[in-house]
Amino acid sequence: MLGRLAVVSEGKIIAYIPDPKSLVISGRLEPAWLPVFYNPAMEFNRDLSVIILSVYIDKYAPHKPVNIVEPLAATGIRCLRYAVEVEGVNKVYCGDIDVKAYRLIEANIGLNNLWDKIIHTLSEANAYMYKLKAIGVPILVVDIDPYGSPAPFINASLNLIGNMGLLMVTATDTAVLEGSKRLKALRRYQINTYKIPQSREVAVRALIGYIARVAAGHDKWIKPLLSAYIDYYIRIYLLIGRSARKAQEMLDKDIGYAYYCKDLAYVTTDPNINDNIKCHNKIMLGPLWTGDIFDGNLLEEVTSRLELYSYIGTYKRIVRLLEVLRGEAKIQRYIHQRLDAIASTLKTKTPPRDKAIEALISRGFKATPTHFTPTGLRTDAPPNVLIDTLFLTS
Ligand SMILES: C[S@@+](CC[C@H](N)C(=O)[O-])C[C@H]1O[C@@H](n2cnc3c(N)ncnc32)[C@H](O)[C@@H]1O
Repeated sequence: MLGRLAVVSEGKIIAYIPDPKSLVISGRLEPAWLPVFYNPAMEFNRDLSVIILSVYIDKYAPHKPVNIVEPLAATGIRCLRYAVEVEGVNKVYCGDIDVKAYRLIEANIGLNNLWDKIIHTLSEANAYMYKLKAIGVPILVVDIDPYGSPAPFINASLNLIGNMGLLMVTATDTAVLEGSKRLKALRRYQINTYKIPQSREVAVRALIGYIARVAAGHDKWIKPLLSAYIDYYIRIYLLIGRSARKAQEMLDKDIGYAYYCKDLAYVTTDPNINDNIKCHNKIMLGPLWTGDIFDGNLLEEVTSRLELYSYIGTYKRIVRLLEVLRGEAKIQRYIHQRLDAIASTLKTKTPPRDKAIEALISRGFKATPTHFTPTGLRTDAPPNVLIDTLFLTS
């Protein structure tokens, strides 16, 4: 039923996966072709999640040990890793709708002898989460890692998660969130969006904004701990709290719009964009999350513990990402700008990013690289200063 299997090792576990060699077609392997989904490129996502989940349980969880649900688990590799590598975990509830996945999860629980920690189920994800709620299993952590959009699973996740819980979400439908498929974005996330040079950050804020609006319907609020655009997908980690008053405050304070000035390729969440620059072609994108997308304290905490995780496969990449995110967290209310896009509207050369950042800092402004793109930076400098600096450094 499962075909030929191979064994991989990731983090501190080993796992059966469908043998990729039997499925290479014209020299190419697409993870979705496997009888059970397994993507080695997502190791980074799993590695990062092991670390963030560990810090969440230690620093934020209201009680320990915690129960976790991963209702779209495929091989179950993520469930295995949470059960073995994260301290303070009681049970991992690991489900998938596909019977082959269910069998493989079972085999992997046996391979790692985790019968006392992982409960596996053959179920549709939403049905599973509503059932756990109905039978009264207390759940603090939900990990939604689908192929495509997480939108169909957000309501059930928010319904299930206990007060001060953690919701981890992957979205691979970035073309939709980034505005290349506008009608789909409107249907799926109820947002009006367009493709702009800064679309990667707009996409992250669109996804968080969508989850915040759904959470408000449950009288719950969210607080982003870490948000990242990695390779071709978005990964976000949100603290979830219960309070109608805070949910209302969140909507009033943290949901808004981005205003994009086509003449200058400049984006801001400030509706008074015309006070700072003459903008004839302005478009509005949203509603989006305009609040913080990183928790600076969490990033410092994670960084201080990183050495504990030097065993993980993508350790060096995580160290590099965190360094950039810590800088971004300090000026995160300002959406990043793209030096190449602005330079092109000004018909000048793109300056080296480091040089532009140095020049802005020497003029008394804050400026830092962004992980969203190698030609992007965050700064609190007004657009006229940015333009001036760009001409000076290009
Ligand atoms: C991208 S894979 C999950 C990868 C896994 N989280 C990992 O880290 O390797 C998505 C999985 O979701 C399962 N799936 C799709 N729709 C589902 C649904 N409505 N309910 C439960 N599982 C579903 C698929 O069978 C597939 O195994």
